[in-house]
Amino acid sequence: MMIKIIVGTNRKNSVSEKIARQYQEILQKMDVSSELVHLSDLPDDFVFTALYENNGKNQAYNKVHDQVKSGSKYVFVIPEYNGSFPGILKSFIDGMTYPNSFKHKKCALIGISSGVGGGSIAMSHLTDVFHYLGMHVLALKPRLAKIEENMSDNLLTNRLYLGLLQEQAELLVRF
Ligand SMILES: Cc1cc2nc3c(=O)[nH]c(=O)nc-3n(C[C@H](O)[C@H](O)[C@H](O)COP(=O)(O)O)c2cc1C
Repeated sequence: MMIKIIVGTNRKNSVSEKIARQYQEILQKMDVSSELVHLSDLPDDFVFTALYENNGKNQAYNKVHDQVKSGSKYVFVIPEYNGSFPGILKSFIDGMTYPNSFKHKKCALIGISSGVGGGSIAMSHLTDVFHYLGMHVLALKPRLAKIEENMSDNLLTNRLYLGLLQEQAELLVRF
């Protein structure tokens, strides 16, 4: 089994990427292989050169698209941006081949935020999108609120949060 861990933003030095790396370590300890997918690998102009009538024409977009499409199980690390999930992720999904490459696949979501929400609404919005596309979403969706206060040296330190990620990883493997 190979789980694709998608960093839900292209922001440089994102907290999402740090959490994604930590999640990869959790999976490693369980002997489960995983691969990180970085939306920051998308070309700057992809919104204008890879969507709609340009589907399939942007090689740099296609590379990330192929990396995502080839998976069957995913973890999405979703930072809360303006009360939802990042627009870059929606734009990336809007460029994917339709009927969509997520159909009948499975994923888990992790929400993170600076505020008290923990990406709860962001994950709700994304769950609606994935259900529309026919992807199953694991019910346990950890909400990592006040994220900066719960990290130290780029690592999550809150025991409750760490326990939730461990529990989710175990459920995802069996999902
Ligand atoms: C464009 C933008 C919008 C944001 N909107 C919210 C928000 O609505 N609620 C919130 O709690 N935090 C908000 N934040 C803070 C992020 O949720 C927080 O930095 C996140 O946990 C880590 O995001 P990162 O992966 O980009 O580092 C926002 C950050 C950015 C860059």
